[in-house]
Parts: sequence; structure tokens; C-alpha cells
Amino acid sequence: MYKRTHTCGELKRENIGDTIYLNGWVNTVRLHGQVVFVDLRDRYGKTQIVFNADSFSGDFEAVKKLSMEDVLSIKGQVQSRAESAINPKMETGEIEIVVGEYIMLNEASPLPFVISDRENAEENLRLKYRYLELRMEELQRNMLIRHETYQATRSYLSGEKFVEIETPMLMKSTPEGARDYLVPSRIHHGKFYALPQSPQIYKQILMISGYDRYFQIVKCFRDEDLRADRQPEFTQIDMELSFIDEEDIFSIIEGLTKHIFSQVRGIELLEPFERLTWAVAMETYGSDKPDLRYGLELKDVKEFTDASDFNAFKSAKRVKAIVVEGGAKYSRKNIDQFTDYVKKYKAKGLAWMKGEDGVLIGGISKFFSDELHQSIRSSLNVKDGDIIFMIGDKESVTLNALGQLRIEIAKKESLAKTDEYRPVWITEFPMFEYDEEANRYIAMHHPFTAPRNEDISMLDTDPSHTLSRGYDLTMNGYEIAGGSIRIHDQKIQEKVFSLLGLSREEAIEKFGFLVEALTYGAPPHGGIALGFDRLVMLLAGTENIRDVIAFPKTTSATSLMDESPNNVSIVQLDELGIKIKDIEK
Ligand code: AMO
Repeated sequence: MYKRTHTCGELKRENIGDTIYLNGWVNTVRLHGQVVFVDLRDRYGKTQIVFNADSFSGDFEAVKKLSMEDVLSIKGQVQSRAESAINPKMETGEIEIVVGEYIMLNEASPLPFVISDRENAEENLRLKYRYLELRMEELQRNMLIRHETYQATRSYLSGEKFVEIETPMLMKSTPEGARDYLVPSRIHHGKFYALPQSPQIYKQILMISGYDRYFQIVKCFRDEDLRADRQPEFTQIDMELSFIDEEDIFSIIEGLTKHIFSQVRGIELLEPFERLTWAVAMETYGSDKPDLRYGLELKDVKEFTDASDFNAFKSAKRVKAIVVEGGAKYSRKNIDQFTDYVKKYKAKGLAWMKGEDGVLIGGISKFFSDELHQSIRSSLNVKDGDIIFMIGDKESVTLNALGQLRIEIAKKESLAKTDEYRPVWITEFPMFEYDEEANRYIAMHHPFTAPRNEDISMLDTDPSHTLSRGYDLTMNGYEIAGGSIRIHDQKIQEKVFSLLGLSREEAIEKFGFLVEALTYGAPPHGGIALGFDRLVMLLAGTENIRDVIAFPKTTSATSLMDESPNNVSIVQLDELGIKIKDIEK
């Protein structure tokens, strides 16, 4: 191998005449009779290299057989390209290298897909050959964005006096939230470690230990149903702070987020970030992570439907509507598709009316008097050419289904600008949600989240309406961070445990030493964790979390490249004292 003097992304007009050495992969080969053009590629870019039969002293027949992804080391001279061959889109587009000598470092086998075109292969094939996909420009760019995000995070937080501390990957199983990934113990047969769903317990302990400001860029593991923005192992920027309140957290996170966007993408986010209470977000957008890049707000219409002859909504607790500007163009087929869509979110159907000639027509319009048509048009600002969609049901179904339809329509109509970023804090979450299957309250955030001071007495009288000191940061429809001010008063902690159906002993069993540690001088503290992968997704402008993780899992939590999870030998199982009950063959 020749030692390279340059990378494939840096030679310019100034280098013309220089003798240089490059190493890289064959990106493309073009044969033009007695001349072979190759784009040589490395992480830094591409350079056109030229083998000319007249001047090349080596084996020209071998050059003609070069193929994509062969690894070459070349010695050559930089020359200017013919005027017509100049490529202004390429960093090195003004020059080319006339190759004098080359060494074939490695011949590539025939490829399962073309490296320059991501769309030409199915995702599963690309995931199986992830090492090839990772050579693609788009993924290399994403990995660099990810790298810069780590660096920006560390420098900012370190500058704000945060201490980076690692916490264990093998810990006690704490069955709250998602399912744990378990790791059997060889030394203690029948016992298991769990991989952390987050370092929640440890970071609170670190506050009790006096570290004041902790952070960690940390892997978390959750065995839950996967979606486009969820992975079974993902990364958090995890933080905890002492002697603070919500405003301190908001200010640090706004500073960090602004710093990252500015450093990594040159984007200046506006400060302060917007804020919405959970109740307002749910009422207005049908979501606790609303995308504010477009309107399509949910409006109350129960007073109108109650005054109409449309009986299906009379018994519905809530009836809400969205008005889609220009939506009268939707065909019956479009509307049927939207109806099927909202049914996935438990709505029984989707009612509609279109604005035309100053009235409302079609759908359920015949059940409404002329007067009601006018009131609806003026109160919801419906114009000719618009469509109103309505859902009536119990509150959770109405809000969620219409909120989902809002997102679907915005996608169909491309309402969101891709280069706009709208961070918004969601605050005042309910402390508890009722789990109808388990028939008990569960913590909406986690059991250590403090109630609002003014709501503490409601823990006794009306727990279901108690609001918490939890907060999420959302951006463009994604939850990118979640956290809370914690309980540091034992009595309140015990009350919350008992509302969650846990005795003190059970709480200690489940949440380990934190419960005890909280009795040894816990400072008031709170924290937050940013979903690192989701943040990088937004920075990279992709909607697929797998695009920003080097070696991601599929939606069924498998790795197609290394074929995990896989079987292990009987010997390994014996050592662990484990017997598999039934394996499907
Ligand atoms: P929470 O569970 O809200 O809070 O997680 C924090 C953030 O992590 C991201 N996230 C995920 N990203 C990818 N794949 C997943 N499966 C996944 N699950 C969560 C989200 C989310 O906002 N310990 C608390 C934080 C605290 O209270 O300080 C916690 O983990 O962006």
C-alpha cells in the first residue's frame, strides 16, 4: 500500500501538477475505449482518477476489470479537467488524477446492491449487509452528525459544570414502564440482572451523594413494541441536578438544544421555547407531542351536533372537528381511507361536511339546519372549498383519533416545512393514569415524580386529577426529552407508592436502595433525559431512527447482520442453570 498524501475529498486546482497518493474504494468505473475513468471514494469525498492506455505502464487489461468497491492505492499526477468535464457539484470536480501506478489492495465480491443508490435495495437486505450500507454518503453524513452531537453535548454540559459519570449496565430488575431485558447470572443460578431502561435510580442516588450536576450519554434498553422512532436499545443524554426547579431545567435544556442545533447544523432556534400544558396540547392537537409547524387545530363542536338531528353523536362525551383548507377536493375514496385510518385509533367512524356556495354540503350536512350551517361556518371559519371532519366518542378516543388524523392529513398535504423546528415544552401532566387492564393507577412518568405543590392535598381527596411536576420537550411531533422534579419528602413518596398499590416493603423490593437512600439527606432534585437518537433524527432530517444508528435492530428487535438474538449451546445454558421450555422449530 502507498501511504496516502491526501484524502479523496481534498484535491483542488491548486494541486495541479502535484504527484499524489490516494487510497480508497472504486465508486464507479466508466470505460471509454482506451481510457478508464474511476471515481475513487473514501469518507471525505470522491476523486476522479484516469487510466490512459497510452501513458499507463502497467497491465491495462487488469484496469478494465476493476469493479465497484475494489480497494485501490494509487500514485498519480493531478491535472485539470477538460472544461466540459468540470463538475461544480463535486468538491474535487475541477481536477482529475492521471494514474501512473496502482496497487489492488482488495478485490470486492459482486455486490448485493449498488452502494451509490440507497433506494435500489430493500431495507432488510441493506440491514443484512449493514457494513456496505454504512459506506453510503447519506449514512456517513448521519454518523458524522451523530458524532458532532456527542461532542457538542459534552462540551456544553461540561462547561455548565456537569460531571459525566457511568452507571451500571447490569442492575436489578425494576418492573415499571417497559419490559426489562434480563441477563441470567452464572454465579447465582436462578437470579437475573436487568439491563437499565434508564439510569433513573442511579442518577437520583448520585444527587444524594452530592454530585449536584450529573450527565451521561448512555445506552438504555426497553423490551417494548417498536415503531419508526423506537429501538430496543437506544441512547439518552441523561441528566440530574440538585437544588433546582423547573425553570433551571428548562433553561439548561434550551441552552443545550440551541447549542447542538447551532453547532451541528448552523440552525438558530428561537428562545424561550414555547410551552403548553398537557391539557391544552391534548385539547388543541389531540397529542402530548404536537407538531406546531401547521395549524389544523381541534375544535369543540358538541354544541352544534347536540342542536342537530344527527343522533350518533348525542351520547358521545366529546365531539371535536378539524377543518382542512381546500379539503373539499377529497373524493369518497379519500374519505373512506381517512375513515379506516381513524378506526385504527378506536373511532367508530368519521363524519364530514364540505363548504360550498355559502353552506355545508354532503356527509352529515342534511342533519343540520341552515342556521347551524352558518354558525358552524363562522365559528370554525369554514370557507367554500374546505372540509370539516368530526369525531364523537369518549374523550380519549375523540382526542387521540382526531389528533392522529391531523398528522395524517398534514403528511398528505405536506403542510410541515422540513427546515422548520418548533420545540415546545409540555407541562402539568397528570400524576397517574388508570390502567384498565391492571385495574389500578400507574405513574404517568415514574413513581418518583413530584406532584405540584398546590396539588399535594389532592393526593388524599382526588388523586386522578393531581397534576405532576413532570415535563417533556417535544419537537415537530416527536417527544425528544422527558423528566421531572422528584419527590424528596418521604411522606409524599409513601403516599404515592400507596396510590400505586405498593406497600413500603414492596417499594423497597421493587425500587431497591433508592427508597432507603432518600431517607439519608436527599437534596431537592430533578432531571431529564433527551432521546439522543431522536434528536439526531431531527438534525439529520430523517423519520427513521435506524438511519442514525450504526447497527440498528429491525422492528422485530433482530439484527439481520449478526443474526441476533440467536441460539446458545446447551453447555452455556447448563452453566447458567437454564432449561428452555419449548423452542419452535
Ligand atoms: P423517558 O422514558 O421519557 O424518561 O425517556 C427519555 C427520552 O428517551 C427517548 N426514548 C426512546 N428513544 C428511542 N427508542 C426508545 N425505545 C425510547 N424510549 C424513550 C425519548 C424520551 O423522551 N428516566 C427518565 C428521565 C427522567 O425522568 O429524568 C426517562 O427515561 O426521546
